Order: sequence, then C-alpha cells, then structure tokens
Amino acid sequence: MAFISPEEINNIRSSVSIVDIISTYIPLNQRGKNYFGVCPFHEDHSPSMSVSSEKQMYKCFSCGAAGNVFTFIENYLNVSFGEAVSLVAEKAGISIKADFLPQKEVKNQKEYDLMALVLKIYQNNLNTEAGNKAIQYLNERKLEEDVRKDFDIGLALDDNILTKLLLKKDYSEKLLVDLGLLNNNDLKLHDVLKDRIVFPLHDLDGNVIGFTARCYLSDIKPKYLNTKETAIFKKGNILYNYHRAKDTIRLKKEVILVEGNMDAIRMYANGIKNVVALMGTSLTKEQIKALKKLRAKIVLMLDNDEAGEDATYRLGNILEKEAFEIQIVRLNGAKDPDEYILKYNAEAIIENIMHAGSFMDFKLNYLKKNKNLNSAVDLAEYIKTVIENLKSNPDEILKEVTLQKLSNDYNISYAVLKEQLKIDSKIKVKTEKNEEEKKKKTTYEKLANEILYFMMNDAEYIKLYQTRLGFFPTKKERMIASEILYYYNLYKTINLADFITYIATINLKKEIMDIIESVRIQELSDEAMIELLEKLKKKMEQEEIKCLKKELKNEFDPNKKMELAKKLVEIKKGSVKVESY
Ligand code: CTP
Ligand code: MN
Repeated sequence: MAFISPEEINNIRSSVSIVDIISTYIPLNQRGKNYFGVCPFHEDHSPSMSVSSEKQMYKCFSCGAAGNVFTFIENYLNVSFGEAVSLVAEKAGISIKADFLPQKEVKNQKEYDLMALVLKIYQNNLNTEAGNKAIQYLNERKLEEDVRKDFDIGLALDDNILTKLLLKKDYSEKLLVDLGLLNNNDLKLHDVLKDRIVFPLHDLDGNVIGFTARCYLSDIKPKYLNTKETAIFKKGNILYNYHRAKDTIRLKKEVILVEGNMDAIRMYANGIKNVVALMGTSLTKEQIKALKKLRAKIVLMLDNDEAGEDATYRLGNILEKEAFEIQIVRLNGAKDPDEYILKYNAEAIIENIMHAGSFMDFKLNYLKKNKNLNSAVDLAEYIKTVIENLKSNPDEILKEVTLQKLSNDYNISYAVLKEQLKIDSKIKVKTEKNEEEKKKKTTYEKLANEILYFMMNDAEYIKLYQTRLGFFPTKKERMIASEILYYYNLYKTINLADFITYIATINLKKEIMDIIESVRIQELSDEAMIELLEKLKKKMEQEEIKCLKKELKNEFDPNKKMELAKKLVEIKKGSVKVESY
C-alpha cells in the first residue's frame, strides 16, 4: 500500500485555500478577516460557521464542528480521510497514488474478497442449466437481465455445490463457517443457502458482507433467509441499497425509506434512485447514524398493510425525535411499492411521493384507529394522545395549528388544550435539562481542554505549559499532551491545521477532535493561557487538599497523621508540587 507522510499531506493542504474549497460546497461571505457561511453540520439558517484563511481552519460557533480542509471534506461528503486527501490533492493538481488510504487499513479484506468470490459463483449459477427455473421466476417478477446485473442477483443451488467449490480453493473450514456461508451442524459441512434466489448485502461502503435469499420453487418459510450475523455483517448496521443511492440522495436531499429489498430494487430500476430499504420494520441507532450522514429529508413509504401502518407511526416518532424532516406516503391499491409500480407505473408512485403528507397529519389519522370519536371516553383519549405526541415536536407553529384544529374539529376549548400541552411540556423540559447537565464537562475537564487547545495552536503555548504546569493529573489529558509534545519535538513547530492531519492516524483522534470542537475561544493570547494554567493549578491543589483532608480523617496512626498534616500545610503554602489527583 502506498504511504504518504504527514508532511506530504500538509503540503497538499497548504497548496489549496480552505476558503476556495469550502465555498465550492457552501456559499461564504467575507466579514473582516474571516469568511462566514451556514454550517452544513447542523440544522441552521444563519451563518454561524467561520472559515479562517489565516489559520486554514473552519469552526462553527453554534454546533462546534471544527477542523481543517480534510475534515471538512470527510464530514461533508462522508468519505474517509484518505479519500478526502485524494480529493483535495486533485483540486490542487497534485498527483498521488490512487491506492492511498492511510489510517483506514484495509481490515477484513480477505473476508470481502471471499464474499465477492461467492457472489460470482451465485451469479454464475443463474446462467447454467440448473438456473432455468430461477430465470423464469425472475422474468415473471419482471426482474430482467439488466436489473439482475445491476443488483448482482444470483442463485444458490442444492447439492452443496458451494461447499465443494470453496473447499477445493483451500479456504479454511472455520472461515467459511464463520462467515455464514457453510454450516457444520451435524459435523458435516453444508451450504447454508440452497435453492434460493440470492441478493448480496453490502455495507455502507459497498463491500459484500452477507446475502439475503428468497425461496422461488415453492412457498417455504421463511420466505427470505439471511446469512447469519458475522464479524463483518450486522443487519442492523446496514440499509439495503445505501451504497448505490447515497450520492443521489445527497444531491436530491431526499431519501425514500421502504421495507423490502424488492421495493428498493423496483424503484431504483425505474429511475427512482434515492431509495434505501430497511429489510423489515426495525430501525437501529446505527441505521439512524447512516441516515443522518445523508443530510436528507426522509420519505417513509412502508407497506400498505396494518403492520406497515403501525411501523410508520413507530419509526416516524423515532425519526422525529432524531430531528429528521419526515414525510409520509401511504400507497393505495397495492401491497407495497414493488407491486404498486408493477400494477400502475413509476409515474404513479412519483406522483404519490410528490404529494407526500406530513407526519402530523398521518398521526392525527392514525391515532383515531379503533376509536369511536362519538364516544366521550374515546374522544378524550384521542385528544390526550395527540397532545402527548405534540410535546416532543419542536415546531411551535405546527403545535399551535394542531391545537386550533382539534379545538375546531371537536368543539373543545382551545384554552383547555393549550393548558394541557403546557403541563406536559414543563415536565419534558425538566428531564431534558437533566440530560444536558449530565453531558456538561467538569470545571477541570473544561480547563484542561482549553489548555490543550492552546497548545495545539502555537508552540509558545506549549512552552508556557511546560514551565507553568508541566503535567496533567489525569490519564487522557496526559496522553493528549504527550501527543502534542511528540509532534512539537518532531517538527519544532505546531499549528492546528497541520496537527489535525497528524492526528488522523493516531488512536486519540476522537478525543482530540472533541477538544477542538468543544472549545469556543476565539482569541488566543499569552495572558489567557497563563490565566488558564493558574486556574487549573489552583483547581488541582484544591482537589489534593480535599483528598488529604479525607485521608487525615481516616488515618489513626499518629505519625502518619502528622506527615499528612505537614503535607497539607505545605500545599496550602504552595511549596509542594501536586502529584496525585
Ligand atoms: N424479511 C426477512 N425475513 C423474512 C421476511 C422478510 O428478512 N422472513 C425482510 C426482507 O428483507 C424483505 C423485507 O423484510 O425484503 C420485507 O418483507 P416482505 O414485505 O414480506 O417481503 P417483500 O419485500 O414483499 O418480498 P417479496 O416481494 O419478494 O415477497
Ligand atoms: Mn413484495
């Protein structure tokens, strides 16, 4: 694998202007020394991101997002550090080796290669004599050759053909079993998938990591059989079709979320390419994370049955809490998007998507289910659930309009509804505040982070740290400080934009980026640094005094007690270096 040194990477970094690069993605306006734009990393409408051409850094003073030109590209385009460097190099007209991927060592390459090989075998099966029935089935389902190719559809045969082929190729039995391709339940090796149409499953980057396989000879249960979860395949980490659709989704700023892979395939094959499938109706934290990276509105278009309706309500609520913009499509006249397109056509489903409704309108309807609104009890229950639902909605105008509508539709005093919403909301605000408090950094952490931040910016601040503090009492901070000192000793200079390149390859990347993003100081000066160092020293002394006092209280040996008391006095006088924490 090609290797590029941090120096070369920073050479690429300094051959471009961060202002030029960022302004190709978001509009920037100059104000004074810096440029400002609307931050793409959080919901925002005012220009809170500042880009400094002097420091070659960006920083959002609202959400904290910060970094150099590489981290901007990494996060904005959701690409790896290596890809970001390649992209910037390209813009700078510097040629680098195409296979350059620094921090992302190609982990699991052996597994990916094997899965790709197995996929080839499955695909090949389709074109053999034994594949005729499967081809017939696929053609009947209107999955013709071009679609089969686009989605790498294959066929698992019977007779343990895969087992025989793979063992001939010298793969270890363990690897084949571990990857869920073969099983050895009765001490003999067997193919896991047999007599099924096979669809490869990819991770978010497009590596084949598993398979989902549909029966086609007869209706057996389960209809779809997936390869088991393995070191590389976790169903909850992926969304079907994500790797094919992500670029289109980012451009359109819209992702259509469907249940089944067949729905995604049908839509994609009909030109509606911004679609991903859940492969069921559950939604995990990892999948939410993957969706967040797309920075797109979500159109939920689940199956047209009761389960799909319930799932729309459940998933809609989850996504709403996660601050996604969501819209709902409920199809009429067909079971799912796949059947809808086959029965009508692509234009008809596009029409539905263009007229997608709001989640609030869906909820107002959904919550009426199984209720007789002529009954006072049912009506009261309905109103209460709607209000319950409104609590978590951040849209104040929508809240207002909904209350008005309820008041009009059911002839209930608006004031009573409003009062009810307020009571509930107060309780909610309180718990949210507690959560916020938990996340708050301690005074020590805040001070230490600010000091480390200063040190990453300028060697002068490293010198101040060395003469006035010299060490941190906690492990994490000590390790970060030693990375900074290591860098400084190596290059005899430091600045934030270059230091960020360096940390891309070390273990503490996340912790250091967290500091860079959480510190909100705009102007750095010697005085400010000295003040921080003094404050932290004081804080450490107070902690030490607290500890000693506690020890003193618990100590019964008079000699040791004396020693502790002496130490305490010395610390108070400021003549002892604080060592423990
Ligand atoms: N699924 C699964 N295991 C099952 C049934 C379903 O993993 N036993 C997943 C599959 O990924 C499937 C999705 O749930 O794509 C939706 O299931 P369903 O609506 O039953 O399947 P369809 O997408 O309609 O599949 P088909 O059109 O092939 O019948
Ligand atoms: Mn279907």
